[in-house]
Order: sequence, then structure tokens, then C-alpha cells
Amino acid sequence: MADLSVQIKNLVFRNPVTLASGTCGFGEEMTPFINPDLLGGLFVKGLTIRNREGNPYPRMAETASGMLNAIGLQNKGVDYFIQDILPRIRHYQTHIIPNINGSTVKEYIQVAEKLADLDRIPAIELNISCPNVKAGGMEFGITCPSAFAVTEAIRKVYPKVLIVKLSPNVTHITEIAKAVEDAGADAVSLINTLLGMAINADTRKPVLSTVTGGLSGPAIKPVALRMVWQVYRSVGIPVIGIGGIMNALDAIEFMLAGASVVQVGTASFIDPTVSLKVIQGIEDYLNIHHISRLRDLTGGLITD
Ligand SMILES: Cc1cc2nc3c(=O)[nH]c(=O)nc-3n(C[C@H](O)[C@H](O)[C@H](O)COP(=O)(O)O)c2cc1C
Repeated sequence: MADLSVQIKNLVFRNPVTLASGTCGFGEEMTPFINPDLLGGLFVKGLTIRNREGNPYPRMAETASGMLNAIGLQNKGVDYFIQDILPRIRHYQTHIIPNINGSTVKEYIQVAEKLADLDRIPAIELNISCPNVKAGGMEFGITCPSAFAVTEAIRKVYPKVLIVKLSPNVTHITEIAKAVEDAGADAVSLINTLLGMAINADTRKPVLSTVTGGLSGPAIKPVALRMVWQVYRSVGIPVIGIGGIMNALDAIEFMLAGASVVQVGTASFIDPTVSLKVIQGIEDYLNIHHISRLRDLTGGLITD
């Protein structure tokens, strides 16, 4: 049997397939369909220091081979997660990784501090790439100094595995990746959604209440693959690949480009069992190609 395990710092994932933040709730929403214990990990919905209602409806729109969302980090706040949700999900035999957000560096720090000592939380994903909030979010992830500053601040208060989630809405993704690596990130995850918009020609109005939103799904896979490949060659820390992964071969492509771990997002809305199919498909691929360890595949792209 092929060895599907992968490692980021001291964190061993039983397999590389995880669910992307905002697309699996807190895992409970998925349990009618899948056993979370079979996943490599769960990146749960973005948390903020206080309750957030999110943006007004409509905040989702379907597009050709992708979807636009402008949820705006709706959540009940980190304390609610710790007191009400975590006790219900802590028995999952998979890594539970919160995605943390803030309007200011201070807010990011407050969220990270509250999560730092929890025994069932081995890592956090620092979201400096949300395109759907007025203050903070993507603003932190689009310049090197601000990406460095927020990562460095969190590094000082968070001793466990720190993953920083990057925005694709930048000119030089490798520069941002290097900045967060220099600031102490243990891994980078990419990509968050690409800024887009949809228009209703009959009403002449934007489809989303926020006019613009974040594009996800198969439409963004080529962009995400390119960015993962560029970042893998630029930094020394592991890369987590995200963006339009619909099946096992998509996941394998991300690994060849340099990803150690992958996140499945929008695909779960079409088929909530898809993540388990991706795991099985990766195992089949390794067996067919006589590869005994999945981690040997990372960065295996042949370009000459
Ligand atoms: C409805 C929805 C909500 C999302 N919420 C978050 C979030 O709270 N935090 C975050 O970092 N990314 C969030 N994302 C982005 C996804 O985690 C992922 O980076 C993006 O959708 C690209 O992957 P995909 O094409 O496989 O969906 C959200 C995406 C969608 C579609």
C-alpha cells in the first residue's frame, strides 16, 4: 500500500487531502456525507474576534466553470467557536485548523492568542487574502510590508504550526510568499479567490450586493497551479495548493507543481463526497505508477 502521509513541520497528515476554509463549515455540515476522520485535515470557516453578519444577500453567483462569493466572513466569533463548536467536533480524528481573520493586526493577534493553547488545534491558517471585507482581509496580503508585519506579529504569539493563506490578486506572488516566510510562517497556502464580478444585463445591475466577489472553482485552477509552481520554487517552506481541485488528477497536478497538501473547496458543493474520491484516486494513481510514497511526488514536474 502506498504511503499517503505528508508532513508540515511537526504535523503529520494521514493523507494530503483537506477541506478548504468556508466550504465545509465546521465539519459537522459534512458528516451526513463523509466521515471527517478519513481526511487529512479540516480548514474550518474563517473566525474573527467578534460576531460578523457577513455581507447582504445576494452574495453568491454561479458563473461558467466557477462561482462568485461575497460572504464577508460571516461567523459567530472565536469565543463561540471555542465554547460551542469545538466541544462538538473535537473527537474528529483529523487535524482541525481554524482560519483566522482581522480588521487590524491587533484583532488577528487576539484571535490567535485564544486558539494557541487548545489541545485539539495544532495549527492556524492566517487569512490575509479575503477579498470580501471592507477593512483588513486582502489588504494585508497584497503588499510585502503588511504581509510581513501581520505574520511576524502572529508568529510572536502563536508557537504552533502557522500557515499563511495568500491572495492571487497581486502582481508578484513570490515576493509576498518570501515576505511571510521571512516573518516566520511554517507554510503558505494558496490561492484564495480571484476578484471578479457578474452583471445581470436585464436589470443592468450587479448580481452580488457587493458588486465584486471572489471567484473559485475549476475556472481558477490554471492560475492557482501557476502560482503554486512559482511559489514552490521561491520558498523553502511547504506549499498547500488550493484552487479548482475537482478530482484526484487535479490534486496530483498541484503536487507535481510543488504542493505538499491540497485543499478541496468549491467541488464539495457539487459533490460533498468528492474529497474521499480524491483520496482514493490519489492512491490508485500511486499504485498504477508504482510510487510508494506520495511525498516523493511533490515538485516532480518535469520542465525540460
Ligand atoms: C463560499 C466560500 C466561502 C469561503 N470562505 C473562506 C474563508 O472564510 N476563509 C478563507 O481563507 N477562504 C475562504 N474561501 C476560499 C476557499 O477556501 C478557497 O481558497 C477558494 O474557494 C479556492 O478554492 P476552490 O476553487 O477549490 O473553491 C471561501 C470560498 C467559498 C467558495
